[in-house]
Amino acid sequence: MVNSYYEKLISCVEEVKAKINGFEPHIAIVSGSALKPISKDMDVRYSVPYSEIKGMPVCTVKRHESRFLFGYMNGVPTVCMTGRIHYYEGYDIQDVVLPIRIMCLLGAKLLLLTNASGGLDPDTKIPTLMVIRDHIMLHFPNPLIGPNPDELGLRYPDMSAVYDTEISGLLFDLGKEMDIPMSEGVYVQLTGPSFETPAEIRFLGKIGGDAVGMSTACEAVAARHLGVKVCGISCITNLGAGISQNELTDTEVVENTGLIIGQITALINAALPKIDRDYL
Ligand code: HPA
Repeated sequence: MVNSYYEKLISCVEEVKAKINGFEPHIAIVSGSALKPISKDMDVRYSVPYSEIKGMPVCTVKRHESRFLFGYMNGVPTVCMTGRIHYYEGYDIQDVVLPIRIMCLLGAKLLLLTNASGGLDPDTKIPTLMVIRDHIMLHFPNPLIGPNPDELGLRYPDMSAVYDTEISGLLFDLGKEMDIPMSEGVYVQLTGPSFETPAEIRFLGKIGGDAVGMSTACEAVAARHLGVKVCGISCITNLGAGISQNELTDTEVVENTGLIIGQITALINAALPKIDRDYL
């Protein structure tokens, strides 16, 4: 059967390749909401707007850019996706993960995911960084639903170790060494775009979640399907609804992300050369 999604994916990969002159990223980074400054010290060699690639979704969230940046982060060949595609924007779930698959097929061996999230434990200190050790995606469509192009991966891929144990451990230990307050935990992905109700927050805590957000887990699944390693860091920017004393707003998320953007950027820059040298 001709799989038109697979054909679109391959043609997107070829279009991007034609713009980056043989550049081969080792690591792919997704910078989440308000986390674009992660790439501020990147030595950018190629900047590829999604709008220049036929068939690519573009990010409709205000303040989010829509481009791939190719270059060197602390010397490591990296592609950084500034402007993630969210399911709540109305795209098909397969299109939400299209840019992830493109970065993996361009050669990235590790996908490093970042995001903002709400804390499910009342004792969470806000804001703080959490290394994602596992996820819950039960209330979100699986990105592998639909025909499975065998060229990409297995029909029933194993998800018992989505987030690479060694790389996640390195991120956690390095953060501690750098005096960055760090936690580790389970991230729950919901669709958004509304924030959760207090009852939903209580439920998510009870089923084993530590933080909740509107991205990331589906991207991790798409990368693991392709056999690419995954790790993730969440910026817990607020306590979940009902635990938080405040009304939840995007403004609070952006402001509190701003308070720890320096920490996550420093951590990623310090970690990349070690990961590239020892783990890929
Ligand atoms: N819920 C969902 N997504 C989020 C939150 C939240 O409380 N904070 C930041 N992203």
